[in-house]
Amino acid sequence: MLKAVILIGGPQKGTRFRPLSLDIPKPLFPIAGLPLVQHLIEACVANEGLSEILLIGFYPSAQIQPFANEMQQIYNVTIKYLQEFTALGTAGGLYHFRDQIRFGNPEGFFLMNGDVCSDFPLKELYEFHKQKKALVTIMGTEATRHQSLNYGCIVTNRETNEMTHYVEKPSSYVSTLINCGVYVCSPDIFHTIGAVNNELQERYRNGYMNGTREAGYIQLEQEILAPLAGTGQIFVLPVVNWWSQIKSAGSAIYANRHYLQLYKTKFPERLARSKGQGETCTIYPDVHVDPTAVIHPSAVLGPNVSVGPGATVGAGTRLKESIVLRDASIDDRSLVMHSIIGRGSHVGRWTRVEGTPSDPDPNKPFTKMENPPLFNKDGRLNPSITIVGCSVSVPSETILLNSIVLPNKELSRSIKNEIIL
Ligand code: GTP
Repeated sequence: MLKAVILIGGPQKGTRFRPLSLDIPKPLFPIAGLPLVQHLIEACVANEGLSEILLIGFYPSAQIQPFANEMQQIYNVTIKYLQEFTALGTAGGLYHFRDQIRFGNPEGFFLMNGDVCSDFPLKELYEFHKQKKALVTIMGTEATRHQSLNYGCIVTNRETNEMTHYVEKPSSYVSTLINCGVYVCSPDIFHTIGAVNNELQERYRNGYMNGTREAGYIQLEQEILAPLAGTGQIFVLPVVNWWSQIKSAGSAIYANRHYLQLYKTKFPERLARSKGQGETCTIYPDVHVDPTAVIHPSAVLGPNVSVGPGATVGAGTRLKESIVLRDASIDDRSLVMHSIIGRGSHVGRWTRVEGTPSDPDPNKPFTKMENPPLFNKDGRLNPSITIVGCSVSVPSETILLNSIVLPNKELSRSIKNEIIL
């Protein structure tokens, strides 16, 4: 029997994803028509013998529990939300809920950061884990030297794939093999975390960590994985699958494109088809349109567009490389490109909403999303996708370029490279 644990964080995490996470917890933000974390759940339930998925985070239960219930109904697997009383770090919550994870004696469990996107080769990862008789197996991928500094960097023994060295976000180059935040763990990992926890508690008692962090807070990467390097218990499976993280809003557009692409082979029924094939408007694949959205027959959608439930798209309107969320409406003859239109927002007629993509260079091997900070060194806004927060009104005949509009704003003019607070 197998289980899965997905770390979904909490309200204070995911700040780079604002304003999109102001009205919906980041794990529930829809990418290619499904909440971000549902893609992970879907990958987990595809594994035979997987009986339970535990979502661990510190969002109030009311924000996640209804989603967990709905997922349980859809996938017919036990799915529970376990709420940390405060942020306990990437291993603290795991340890806090160890009895629930070990309940029923699973042979092992998948552990996943809730903000990663991939076609998750979980079967391969689990087979590799068993073959190595590992305590922990990490899914690894290549990054460029420059990008690797933003990730957990891994050095392995090339013959055995054992991890011999690990540094989380190093200040200088360590390795281009990086940690994807997707693991298989054997239940014995709780002995290791327990020993670290005892040591940390001892330091608390002796006053060494006064006020620096919560009792019970443990970082998986620095305090558990790094010390396991070279002990013969931790292995890395390097994969070449698509993998990215949702950090900035720009990364949502990038992940949207990849999940839509994945649907082609796995769930073709989720993709909209062009006129004459059952759909009413012109589609440049890949596009997902919720069945409750209303699209005018003369609208043109795609490539890489997702339109949420209840959204409306007017006559002659063009959508490209964008996400339109639930109940948003875009009136006639407008253009939306490299942008996200928030829930319940309204874009008038003859309006242009456009952003700048920040995609990795496809001609460079191993490049990943850069997720640059919002502002550059001179305090100016870095060009990025345009984000229209929820319940915003964008008037007709205006242009919104490389801008971010916070929720509930009523714009009255065109804006360029601005944040409207
Ligand atoms: P950043 O670049 O700083 O975001 O670092 P990172 O990519 O290493 O992410 P981080 O370690 O902060 O989080 C990895 C995953 O664990 C994310 O999905 C978070 O939502 C989740 N996470 C982080 N801290 C906590 C925590 O205290 N509790 C829980 N349950 N999840 C957490």
